[in-house]
Amino acid sequence: MIHVNRIYNTDCMEFMNQLKKEDFIKIDAIITSPPYNINKSYSRYNDKRDKNEYLLWLQKIANKSLQVLKEDGSFFLNVGGRPADYMLPFEICSKFIEAGYKLQNTIHWIKSISIEVEDIGKNNFIKTDSSIGHFKPIISERFLSDLHEYIFHFTKKGDKAIDKLAVGVTYQDKSNIGRWKSAKTDKRDRGNIWFIPYNTIQEKRPHPATFPEKLPYLCIKLHGIRKNTVIYDPFIGIGTTALACINLNVEFLGTEIDNKYIEIANENIKLRYIKNKKS
Ligand SMILES: C[S@@+](CC[C@H](N)C(=O)[O-])C[C@H]1O[C@@H](n2cnc3c(N)ncnc32)[C@H](O)[C@@H]1O
Repeated sequence: MIHVNRIYNTDCMEFMNQLKKEDFIKIDAIITSPPYNINKSYSRYNDKRDKNEYLLWLQKIANKSLQVLKEDGSFFLNVGGRPADYMLPFEICSKFIEAGYKLQNTIHWIKSISIEVEDIGKNNFIKTDSSIGHFKPIISERFLSDLHEYIFHFTKKGDKAIDKLAVGVTYQDKSNIGRWKSAKTDKRDRGNIWFIPYNTIQEKRPHPATFPEKLPYLCIKLHGIRKNTVIYDPFIGIGTTALACINLNVEFLGTEIDNKYIEIANENIKLRYIKNKKS
């Protein structure tokens, strides 16, 4: 029997079959980043498959996920390309639409950014040219470094009400509050550009392709939190989505085929419960 707040060491497709069979847990939102088929060195999964086979695999997962998701559920799919294959995210997106989803929002996850003072006006708090995030030296003669990825927000009908206030951003110019009929509090629409840099870590990364915790955190809030909200990450890696769920007090489910990553995820989850209990 499937229990919430656990990560299962199994293939996500098999898990969703089981979830559907048991039929008493329905998922509010799926938030995930699948392997991108770009030859990442996962410890178990082979990230270099025939492209058509890979795309069909994701289409089947999309199709199956529709059966375990609530009618007003969301599927937040984080995918990036690589400079030599910029079309990949759009090809994956098309497969989800063919599977039956509607693309409701396209969010751009910006990982690194350079801001030059001449572009931002005099009254801004940024006084010197600034770069935030990680950057590469100039190594390609053809391609710009890819500093962004997509978060496609799919829903069943394309009309899911989302909680924009929950992810709203405070106004820089407070005189806007009250000026617009809809601007009653100090929160404006965050929009679809999300700047979420990676934390700088010195030690070796335990997993080659994680996303920052703020990414699932914002997605969960944007979807909207109700009583007994359940979030599922089919490709949960070292448990980042579970950590965001714990901080937001919502229930999680995860699947991961690699036991080595699950061990790290479970350790991360244990430490987070301890930390949250202390604070
Ligand atoms: C891009 S990573 C996800 C990382 C995760 N977002 C995190 O922050 O830790 C994709 C993960 O999917 C796992 N995976 C690959 N095929 C799978 C499958 N069929 N079912 C479940 N997990 C799978 C890989 O082992 C890998 O850890």
